[in-house]
Formats: sequence, structure tokens, C-alpha cells
Amino acid sequence: MGLIVFTTLLFLALLQFTLLLHIAEAEGNELCLGSTNYTAGSKYEENLNSVLQSLQAMVPIGRGFNPTSSGVGADQVVYGLAQCRGDTNDAECRDCMNTSTTNALRLCPNSKEATFWYDHCLLRYSDSNFIGSIDRFRYYLKNVNNVSDRESFNKELGGLMRNLTSRAISDPLLFASGTTLYDHFVTLYGLLQCTRDLDASRCQSCLEGAIALIPNFASGNVGAQVLSGSCMLRYETYSFFTHSPPPPPPPPPPPQATPNSPPPQNPTPPGKPNTLSLKMPPPMLHSDEYWKKFLV
Ligand SMILES: *[C@@H]1O[C@H](CO)[C@@H](O)[C@H](O)[C@H]1NC(C)=O
Ligand SMILES: *[C@@H]1O[C@H](CO)[C@@H](O)[C@H](O)[C@H]1NC(C)=O
Ligand SMILES: *[C@@H]1O[C@H](CO)[C@@H](O)[C@H](O)[C@H]1NC(C)=O
Ligand SMILES: *[C@@H]1O[C@H](CO)[C@@H](O)[C@H](O)[C@H]1NC(C)=O
Repeated sequence: MGLIVFTTLLFLALLQFTLLLHIAEAEGNELCLGSTNYTAGSKYEENLNSVLQSLQAMVPIGRGFNPTSSGVGADQVVYGLAQCRGDTNDAECRDCMNTSTTNALRLCPNSKEATFWYDHCLLRYSDSNFIGSIDRFRYYLKNVNNVSDRESFNKELGGLMRNLTSRAISDPLLFASGTTLYDHFVTLYGLLQCTRDLDASRCQSCLEGAIALIPNFASGNVGAQVLSGSCMLRYETYSFFTHSPPPPPPPPPPPQATPNSPPPQNPTPPGKPNTLSLKMPPPMLHSDEYWKKFLV
């Protein structure tokens, strides 16, 4: 335990030298990797602008994903990738791409490399070609509220994460969301996604790495997010995703006897007594009191 804490502290201390970490601005989270900066008016800046423009235009019409690059020659090429969450509709995707690309240069001025996470999309760029490989940074948020029954919660959470992982890696969007019950009455909502430049086996290892962090950082917390430039996970005790994603998952199970029976939909989640069970997350979602953030 002591060794883990020490190693973690040492690692964080080392990161301080190479990273500029900005936390909690607007509704997103960003990681500005500031070890090298570009200068104003440089070719790099020009290429970065064209990458951002291209992502803003292309992602919403590319089923929510686009990897791109701009420029030729050393110190000039910018690699970019953006992806909308698997349950977003076109308008949400367009809005999120608009917000993320518009804010990027203000949030991470001069950074050659940066990653931005919003509720509905991810944006990433770098001067090195990261397409297809697993991002090594993970950004971690946990909801400070505690669960009532940790054992039941962890058991269900572990099962849900395993189930969603196997669904995500075989989904064309590398996306899965779902629910389970814990403590008999409380619905637990989970969502996992990889960026679509990863193959299934890299997606699986990215997700498994993210899931493995949960017990270290969020054991007993009612919600958490692990965000990397290559995959993300989130769980909450309220609904935060759209329940029927645009491309419906597997066809319904065996034919029903009654032709007019309603589709087997989740009932309105009971939620926790003092939690809003609406589609929109509660407004305190991004306040620092609600979320504790780490870089791992
Ligand atoms: C890069 O630019 C940022 C913002 O202008 C600055 O705070 C930071 O010190 C610079 N980093 C390096 C390595 O020069
Ligand atoms: C992006 O958002 C801004 C501010 O909300 C808006 O004025 C602009 O038209 C939007 N651009 C696109 C391409 O949607
Ligand atoms: C949750 O539990 C931790 C450790 O048991 C405690 O420090 C923290 O204050 C609790 N959080 C809330 C919101 O009660
Ligand atoms: C995981 O999937 C199995 C098999 O479909 C199912 O029996 C189990 O209830 C699921 N567990 C959770 C927590 O979703």
C-alpha cells in the first residue's frame, strides 16, 4: 500500500515536469501536454488549425469519428482524432465538435499535444502519430458520494463492466452502455467506449486497464470516469446516456406471443432519493465539490 502510494506520488511528481494540467474549465476536461510548444505564426499552428477545422466538419458526417493529419516534414505534421460518444445524435455530435475545436486553442495555448474530453465527444491532437496505439495517460474523476452497500455495488459494477467490455469490443462503434441493479433497488448505469482507430484487442486492453483502476481510486463511490485518449468508461447511479443508440444493438430475443406488446424497455430508473433521474445529468456534475480529479 505504502509502496503504491509512494510510486504514485513519484510518478505524479515526475509528470509535473513534463505536463501542464489544467482542470475543470467549461464543461470539459483537458490535458495539455506542454513538453514542447509551437510558436505563434508557425507552420505547426497553421496545420493545427486546419486539422481542427477538418475534424469539426468531418466528424459529424463520418458516423462520429475521424482521424486526420495535416502538413509534411519534421516539426510540422499535426495528427488529430475526434470521436463522438456512441449514443449521440448528429446535433449533439456537431455541437460537441464545435465546442471542443473552438475551445481547444484557448484551453491549451501553444501545446503541440492535447486531449479534451466532453460529455459527448473526445478531441485529441499531437505532433506524433498516435493513431492506432493506446494512449498512456488516464484522467480520472470520481464522484465523492459514497454507496450504501459497497459489497453489492462492487459486485454488480464488476459484472457490468465485464459485460459491457465484451459488448464494446464487438460493436462497430466500439461502444456499449447498459444497466444493472444493485442493493435490489438502485440502478447502476455504465458506459464504455474506445476510439475507433483501435482494433478489438487493443480496445479490450485499454478498457481492462481503465477498469482495473476503479478499485484503487473509486471503491465505494457512486460514480466515476476514467478517460484516456483511446478509451473511456463511466458509471453513475443516474442515467447519463441515451438509452437507444442510433444503430440498435442485437435484434430482440425470441418472438413475442402478442404482436403489440411494447418493446422490452428499461422502466424509468428509480434513482437515489435525492438524485434527479432525468436524462440530463444533475447540474453539479462538473463542480469540483462533486468530482475529485486525478491524473494517472
Ligand atoms: C508552453 O506554453 C504555455 C502557455 O503559453 C506556457 O505556460 C508553458 O510554460 C510553455 N511550455 C514550455 C515547455 O515552454
Ligand atoms: C458553433 O457555435 C457557435 C457559438 O454557439 C455558433 O455561433 C456557430 O455557428 C457554431 N458553428 C457551427 C459550425 O455549428
Ligand atoms: C465517503 O467515504 C470516505 C471514506 O470512507 C469519506 O472520507 C468521505 O467523506 C465520504 N464522502 C461523503 C460525501 O460522505
Ligand atoms: C452479465 O451478463 C450475464 C450473461 O448475459 C448476465 O447473466 C449477468 O446478469 C450480467 N451481469 C451484469 C451485472 O450485468
